[in-house]
Amino acid sequence: MNLWYGGDYNPEQWDPAVWKEDVELMRRAGVNLVTVGVFSWSRLEPVPGRYEFGWLDEVLELLYGGGVRVDLATPTASPPPWFSRLHPEAMPVTADGVRLTHGSRDTYCACAPAYRDAAKGIARALAQRYGDHPALAMWHVHNEYGTTCYCSLAAERFREWLREHYGSLERLNEAWTTAFWSQGYGDWRDVEPPRKTQYLVNPTQYLDYRRFWSDELLAAYREQKNVVREYSELPVTTNFVFGGWVPVNHATWSAEVDVVAIDHYPDEAGIGAEEQTAFGADLARGWAGGKPWLLMEQAAGGLNVGRRWHPKEPGRMARNSLSHIARGSRGALFFQWRASRGGAEMYHPAMVPHAGPDSRMFREITELGSVLPRLAEVAESNVVAEVAILWDAECWWGMQGTHLPSSELDYLKAVRSAHRHFWRAGVTVDFAAPDADLSSYRVVVVPSLYLVSDETVAKLTAYVESGGELVVGYFSGVVDPDLRVRPAFAELLGVRVEEFHPLADEVALASGGRGQLWAEDVQAFAAEVVDRYAGGVLDGKPAITRRQVGEGTAWYVSTELDDATAARLVGAGEPVETVRRRAGDTTWTFRINHSTQDVVVPAIGVELVTGQNVDGELTVPAGGYAVVRSSAGAVGGRAGAAAGSQRRR
Ligand code: GLA
Repeated sequence: MNLWYGGDYNPEQWDPAVWKEDVELMRRAGVNLVTVGVFSWSRLEPVPGRYEFGWLDEVLELLYGGGVRVDLATPTASPPPWFSRLHPEAMPVTADGVRLTHGSRDTYCACAPAYRDAAKGIARALAQRYGDHPALAMWHVHNEYGTTCYCSLAAERFREWLREHYGSLERLNEAWTTAFWSQGYGDWRDVEPPRKTQYLVNPTQYLDYRRFWSDELLAAYREQKNVVREYSELPVTTNFVFGGWVPVNHATWSAEVDVVAIDHYPDEAGIGAEEQTAFGADLARGWAGGKPWLLMEQAAGGLNVGRRWHPKEPGRMARNSLSHIARGSRGALFFQWRASRGGAEMYHPAMVPHAGPDSRMFREITELGSVLPRLAEVAESNVVAEVAILWDAECWWGMQGTHLPSSELDYLKAVRSAHRHFWRAGVTVDFAAPDADLSSYRVVVVPSLYLVSDETVAKLTAYVESGGELVVGYFSGVVDPDLRVRPAFAELLGVRVEEFHPLADEVALASGGRGQLWAEDVQAFAAEVVDRYAGGVLDGKPAITRRQVGEGTAWYVSTELDDATAARLVGAGEPVETVRRRAGDTTWTFRINHSTQDVVVPAIGVELVTGQNVDGELTVPAGGYAVVRSSAGAVGGRAGAAAGSQRRR
């Protein structure tokens, strides 16, 4: 099987003459898959019930003739203007009560029956017409599910969800701690979404609204998927978008997609973007349960993110693509194929930029397209990782809605910094859901798992008892899934957290290390103290503890270690990102050099980009990459094990 290479293709923005040039350029660039129709609803159904498929027929024929397969999208992320005019009740309402109007995309309430019916309608029309079209390779339902609405239709659905979830108002009152601030409910009709209110919102109401939206959007996805299934056996997916605003629990959604697909746009520049790329890719592989997944969208060039320009210097696009592939993606796709001449995202980079094919960007695209077929053999192999980091979207949401003791407490940041420490040490990590099987990991890291269920605590305890090494980060195990306080990890860790100490400045540790952001007054009643706070009010008190439990060890780290201190504990790697994949006796070692110097690494086998035999040493060019296939035993087997033996020229 080939690796997929291509991107979103929006032919409705161009004359048919351009389509022909597109297909010719796609052939030159080695493109073999494009996502078509993501935003085509108003072209496909210009007036309600009247479909115009002629142009799409022509586009699919052209692509098929050019050897480019199609990931056909349902266009339901952007209903046409007539839909908004006919169904004003389906326009979304913000948390502060403003009903939005037509003018952008994603402007609908997914709870509105009119929207759901229209979405199923256009999905059926497409599936009926193209279900057995030979150009199709997969289906792409919707685009980046993530819109939340607070209208009365959503409120009604929320109440239904709550009734099903809690069974009684009594149980809801208990879970939401409505005894506080006189919030006790005596009638279901009084229960509303967590709209803008006078002061702090009820945190469990907020969390439940996220949970509810995740389930509701999943139901909307499933409806379309089922419609498509009536006409086609091809894989169906949707592209996951990641962000604090997204009410989608991707870990649970993953069971409903035939292949996990993500869009990924780092919001940091420089080396931070490389680490974020690895983070996004590892997360996607975690959602996919270790199976191959697909990078559905990324930017080919520099992008304005969060009001800052993030450049993609020469070589970065290829390195990022390789990092995704090394970490399990079945290919590298982009938003979008050809840069738009107008419209809201006209300055978004594309595989074919405004400058046209005679451009650095298109040359780099073409070069990567020529390399990927040589790497196709990795597609079915597994990424090797001995360390897992726990990821739980519900914990993230729980921390977002609660008035925490410090506004610096940030679940995503805590997880990212744990990931970054390992990434810098050259150690590949998996992300695991709280209910995942952890038995194959040597180390499991649990950063700021504020919200944790009793089942997860029992599972982690069993993991340690049977020989695992567990590292629990600060502000973990504070509340249960209803966001009610109880000390979940005390027994396992042998520590009691008596008081929180958010930090304005850094704090010194007796070992010479440093903590930041957060500290705790910890009583180690049954744990060994590995490091202590030095100076300040916590002087001499435990900062890091360790406890032997059964065959394993449970650590507690009560502060956010700075990068240098973490590097002392986890290790420091080289500027070459190393990922190993394995199938049977064969190992593929990806080396991605983010530095400006050539780096020599140990290697025995065949380097797939150049096709050359390597016997002992391999030079990974500055800003470049290499992939070495070797048979068992030829290269140090453990993930990251070779990092220490790399040397820089
Ligand atoms: C996502 C969307 C695309 C586009 C890009 C911009 O990937 O799916 O339609 O908006 O973001 O970065």
